[in-house]
Amino acid sequence: MGRHLGGEIHRRNLNAALRRHSELDITCRESRLRILDTLAPDAVINAAALCNFSACEEHPEDSLRVNLDAALSWAEECFRRSIRFVQFTSDYIYDGTKHAPYLEEDPPAPLCVYGRHKAEIEKCLGSEPLALILRVAWIFGLGGRTFMSLMPGQMMTGEVLRVAAGKKGSCLHASTGASATLDLLDAGASGIVNLVQRGETSWEEFAIQCLLQMQSMGFAPRCTRIEPVPFSGMTEGSGQRPAYSVLDVGRAEALLRHPLPTWQEALSAYLGELRRAGS
Ligand SMILES: NC(=O)c1ccc[n+]([C@@H]2O[C@H](COP(=O)([O-])OP(=O)(O)OC[C@H]3O[C@@H](n4cnc5c(N)ncnc54)[C@H](OP(=O)(O)O)[C@@H]3O)[C@@H](O)[C@H]2O)c1
Repeated sequence: MGRHLGGEIHRRNLNAALRRHSELDITCRESRLRILDTLAPDAVINAAALCNFSACEEHPEDSLRVNLDAALSWAEECFRRSIRFVQFTSDYIYDGTKHAPYLEEDPPAPLCVYGRHKAEIEKCLGSEPLALILRVAWIFGLGGRTFMSLMPGQMMTGEVLRVAAGKKGSCLHASTGASATLDLLDAGASGIVNLVQRGETSWEEFAIQCLLQMQSMGFAPRCTRIEPVPFSGMTEGSGQRPAYSVLDVGRAEALLRHPLPTWQEALSAYLGELRRAGS
């Protein structure tokens, strides 16, 4: 997401400083304060996180340090200087027992370490007027390393794609996420906002749609078969992913004053980006 935010900031010609992990470790207090003191920004967007589900389960202390403690301290340092702070959280704050799209005010019930730390940060920052918390899910986009980002490439090389079936959720094209994040900041939004594409999907449905769109766009994928494997929710560790985590986007759309693209439209935009990038 950070790279796409950088691209969108550049396109809009905004006066912003971008920092990679190699340039700023958000767990280092001195580095965080130096940035705030030297740049005196109006807003900080924190796209840094440890997102690997299994790594967070295996090393909860690392997730605590980056996903909760560092983000929270940085937010507090911003608030003391009247700087707005944007933090991304996740649909994994839920246990998946609801059967209708989750609203911002639905109480969290995380089943995993990553979700617990994201839920905790929402609890700490949710009512702070200078905080904007964007709850996102299944991000995909150019240069991404997530399953959905890599899917078109896998379809170009392999005949069979195995996908976990049965889990329903929302997804977010990084380009949509970047531009909506900046628009929501511009609109003065605060509090928790679900930010995903319109419509619910599953990895299986996304894969089928991806294959159909690739064929109709002339990509010539090698993949001829999508093989669903049962979704268990379980990993090697103790954590669990929610089986249902669709997010309602009504609040985001009201703040943005326009509908968000559907996940099918976003997928088509992503395939267009891949084509232009020659991947
Ligand atoms: N990806 C998803 O599907 C997904 C779903 C729900 C929520 N989210 C949330 O959305 C936000 C953006 O995620 P993303 O998809 O852009 O994740 P990403 O591609 O994994 O990027 C996270 C970035 O954070 C950096 N980072 C890790 N530790 C850091 C530290 N201590 N200091 C500074 N940078 C550090 C990573 O650098 P290295 O690569 O060098 O470690 C990486 O560049 C995160 O808050 C994430 O939790 C993502």
